[in-house]
Amino acid sequence: MNITRALGMSAIGIAAITMAGCDDSDHDGGDGSSNASNSNAATSLVSEMTTADKIAMLHGTTDPEGLAGAGYLPGVPRLGIPELRLTDGPLGVRTSEPATAMPAPIGLASTFDPQLAADYGQVIGSEGKAHGQDVLLAPMTNIVRTPLAGRNFETLGEDPYLASRLVSSDVQGIQQQGLMATVKHYVANNQEQDRQSVNVNVSQRALREIYLPAFKAAVDADVASIMCAYNRINGEYNCEHAATLNTILRDEWGYEGFVVSDWFATHSTEASIQAGLDLEMPNGTYYGEPLADAVANGTVDESLLDRSVERILRQMSRFNMLDGDQDDDAEIDTEAHAEVAREAAVAGSVLLRNENNTLPWQADDIGTVAVIGPTAERLLFGGGGSSAVEPLETVSPLEALRNALGDDADIRYAPGISLDGEPVPASALRAGDSEDSNGLQAMSEGGTQRIDSTIDFVGDNALAAGSNWTWTGQLVAPEAGDYRLLIQTEGGSGTVTLDGEQVARTGGLFSNRLLESADGLTVASYEVSFEAGSAHTLEITGEAGASMGVNSGDPDTELQIRFAWVSPEIRQQAFSEAEELAGQADHVVVFGFNEGTEGQDRDTLDLPLFQNELLDAVTAAADNPVVVLNTDGPISMPWLDQTSAVLETWYPGQEGGRAIADMLLGNATPGGRLPVTFPTSLDNSPTASERNYPGVDGQVHYDEDTLVGYRWYDYYDVQPLFAFGSGLTYGEVEYTNAQLSTTDGGYSVQVTVRNSGDHTAVAVPQVYIGSASGTPVVMAPKQLAGFAHVSLEPGESQDLDIPLTDQVLRYWSEDEGGWVPDSGEHEVYLGQSVSQVNSVGQLTVD
Ligand code: BGC
Repeated sequence: MNITRALGMSAIGIAAITMAGCDDSDHDGGDGSSNASNSNAATSLVSEMTTADKIAMLHGTTDPEGLAGAGYLPGVPRLGIPELRLTDGPLGVRTSEPATAMPAPIGLASTFDPQLAADYGQVIGSEGKAHGQDVLLAPMTNIVRTPLAGRNFETLGEDPYLASRLVSSDVQGIQQQGLMATVKHYVANNQEQDRQSVNVNVSQRALREIYLPAFKAAVDADVASIMCAYNRINGEYNCEHAATLNTILRDEWGYEGFVVSDWFATHSTEASIQAGLDLEMPNGTYYGEPLADAVANGTVDESLLDRSVERILRQMSRFNMLDGDQDDDAEIDTEAHAEVAREAAVAGSVLLRNENNTLPWQADDIGTVAVIGPTAERLLFGGGGSSAVEPLETVSPLEALRNALGDDADIRYAPGISLDGEPVPASALRAGDSEDSNGLQAMSEGGTQRIDSTIDFVGDNALAAGSNWTWTGQLVAPEAGDYRLLIQTEGGSGTVTLDGEQVARTGGLFSNRLLESADGLTVASYEVSFEAGSAHTLEITGEAGASMGVNSGDPDTELQIRFAWVSPEIRQQAFSEAEELAGQADHVVVFGFNEGTEGQDRDTLDLPLFQNELLDAVTAAADNPVVVLNTDGPISMPWLDQTSAVLETWYPGQEGGRAIADMLLGNATPGGRLPVTFPTSLDNSPTASERNYPGVDGQVHYDEDTLVGYRWYDYYDVQPLFAFGSGLTYGEVEYTNAQLSTTDGGYSVQVTVRNSGDHTAVAVPQVYIGSASGTPVVMAPKQLAGFAHVSLEPGESQDLDIPLTDQVLRYWSEDEGGWVPDSGEHEVYLGQSVSQVNSVGQLTVD
């Protein structure tokens, strides 16, 4: 059941949605005011502005009130131009206040449900307004190109048509609430490694067919702003790329909003403003004084300032910011928003395997349940980096299962993986040269010196506010093996330097682990192998009040700091407990996770922290083991054959715990289908060579061209672990009466879906169109052209009519510099994934 329909739109104060392409072209969203009146308002204001006023409108600065989540413009009070506050996105509103933490967009993409994307956008849009923000830095619609990219969880998957449909609804949902949306990161920003500088060598055809369509869809949905990306494409930085910013975006697509740089992604003054970058963020390195100088000395014409300022003011007018008529008291119904979050978590969870209908568990016959894995106990609700949201509330899956089952089951928990480890004992630390000088030499900034046997200053033992400590000595490994060193802090930051190299630090935007310690400390860690008895120089530092991520530190806070480790012995003990528990229980569910983050790609498909070993041992020990995954994207599953069920829940948002319990117990049906292909190995994926990813000498080559994601597996006939579009359901869905029809100007596929099972089912029929034969360029064998998402009660059937896009019936010709029809006969397939399809007919393109 769709939540806006379930609750009634008015219950959460959400205005009705205007669907893409259906709005009056003279109206420009936001408030329904017309393009013409917004333009007039903007032009007349510009005529009253001094050059200095204009320059101040074109670059960010610090928010004097500290309210802006990410960026701030002061406005021009003299002319009634208010301040503008920008915040992240895309998993919820990121300010210093908590907000509804929504499931990661990769989960939203898994729903194949544009209506849900609109609801999702509305939640974030209304909360952004309520938190005093004007611009949301979302949605993010870069195509998943490599399974390793750190921000895959923020994206809408690997298919341009799926991403286009969802981004369009998401933008409209956000903007209906009076908040400007910012689609990002324009364009071909598909990896974190070297993201600030890497040069993407990509063909025009791949840009047009794969990387640009979702941005075009956002423009068609009237998105207020677009963020240009860090990387370069074909030699030029995105934020000074005239061909994409001026020619494609403005001249071809008719975009009227403004272009904002990604944070610190501007590299020039003249070239950028000429190419069409309107707003530099977060400061005025290029658009502050240098821009003023360039205007003064004539290298930048003042008309370019007018152009950019007008673009920003036009949107401010459109969103009622210039008439003092903004509804700043937008009320939010957090319960209704939590419902949308929970609905999206369920609808976006993908049931990858379900042998003998292992799931859902039969509630009347639960017995003992073994719950294993750290993310069962600590909800991994979102990924890392600028999208991280402080959730309003979280309930872990373990707690949710306990709440749901009460006394009906005996639920036992074993982490299986020690996340927090134990304080490194004095016996492994040496303060001096002598073998019995256990501990570390401590020195405070104020000159106090002492020996500390362990570094465990937590709770009542916290160190004084304002203090700054350094501990030095040696770490001596008691046994050979793999160790994990952890620095855990609160109220400041801490570092670990081993053998002269800083290996862990809390406080960096991307260096913290996503999961806090059990006692709520921020964690950074480092994995290392030691020889038995080997000694390593060690330095630990702790600085009270030091900056933690985006928030500046509080000088009045005490410093809690712990230096801990997971030794081979500690790891083994956690393993054995879990294995033993798994062997005794009637039901076993084991959670696997990785901590995906902006700023860092993964270097492997394998789950980290020896989880594959744990999953292997536990699934071998248990009867009917169920695996629940919290990952940012594709992973390897060497233990797959030993499992009875696998449920991929991505990062499921703040309601993820309840959603997971509901799905295990059959109170909800997972509705997702994979929006990304899961490869069997990196070698069997489209970006296997270093040249293709992460690139060599700063150059990455998109040699796979348009064969991105499933297009590549299909073309080369490579078997993936799980194909794009795949996912199972509870219940039993039958597809009958499928047929292809012509409509007024297009095509559609009709099909009857019926649930013949005894449990609620979710069907996601997908239509793929094959290429014509003899096309003179490489064509993907099949491309997604239509889909539906429908929930069916037992016995229910529905007749569906799935309209098809004609986007896949043409290709971009490099020779002609334009779209060319893919003439000839095309096979049309109805599928339950890209690899499970049946022909429903043919269509012919002249
Ligand atoms: C990210 C953007 C984000 C911006 C502001 C950058 O590092 O790439 O996605 O919107 O920071 O936080």
